[in-house]
Amino acid sequence: MPSPTDHRPAADRGARPGTNHDIRPAGSRSRGRPVWRVGDIDFTRADARHRSDTTLFYLLTGASFVESGSELYTRNLLTYYRDVPQIADWLTNVWEPEELQHGAALRAYVQAVWPEFDWHKAYQGFIAEYSQAASPEAFEATPHLELAARCMIETGTATLYRMLHDYAQEPVLRRILASIRDDEVSHFKHFLQFFRAGRAREGNRRMRVAWAIGRRVRETRSDDAWIAFRHAFEVRNPGRRCLQGDFEQWQSELHSIMRRRFPLRMAADMLIAPLALPLLIRRLVRRVAEAGLRRVLFA
Ligand SMILES: [Fe+2]
Ligand SMILES: [Fe+2]
Repeated sequence: MPSPTDHRPAADRGARPGTNHDIRPAGSRSRGRPVWRVGDIDFTRADARHRSDTTLFYLLTGASFVESGSELYTRNLLTYYRDVPQIADWLTNVWEPEELQHGAALRAYVQAVWPEFDWHKAYQGFIAEYSQAASPEAFEATPHLELAARCMIETGTATLYRMLHDYAQEPVLRRILASIRDDEVSHFKHFLQFFRAGRAREGNRRMRVAWAIGRRVRETRSDDAWIAFRHAFEVRNPGRRCLQGDFEQWQSELHSIMRRRFPLRMAADMLIAPLALPLLIRRLVRRVAEAGLRRVLFA
């Protein structure tokens, strides 16, 4: 695992955003976040109150796998944006170190609370399979549309960590989740800003943008989670093959958490932001997006 370090430019450091639902563009007051480092977290202080919560175990483990695999995405994304130094520099010097730090913090937490779980063994299996799915062929047709899709992916992570922060009780975990959540909101703002900057050149084809976002929403549901769950499950339960039924049971437990705590409105607001809709119809579209999300997430 790479050792996470803070490479953020000075402009990225400063006060915490006023609320965790703040999606104003990067560069405004909300751009600043406190610097945090995984090395500053005392994982020995994590208590065991969530140890019997297998739903949370698989969520945190899966998230740690995907975050730790961010190198794959950086490499692929850099091939798409190598001619745009502003984006390439940010991906290399800010985005990737932060995503890897998310993976390192979640991994350390899982190892502190579930020390019997062989994280590295499960991760090796996961990354071998996941690297096939993370190929550049999965990207959108143009680098500009891919930026809209990246906004959607950061929406997914920002809302997931916000939900988990609301759900978790243990103080060390809550601190980690709050820091990651703020980073993900900042990633969203950066991708949105890059997307808006390119719109003058590419034009504002809302249907194509909406299609790119919708495609990623639909795809997010299944594959990554299934791969992560299966590898974690089989290491946690030696000798047992993970069946679809095991995954479905975990998903139904997860859905019951989501129904109570998923920030639907925040997700809808963020998802429609790249469409740059006039104020009057934004509310209507947000309601449609909320209804669509409810169907996709809770079906
Ligand atoms: Fe992340
Ligand atoms: Fe992110």
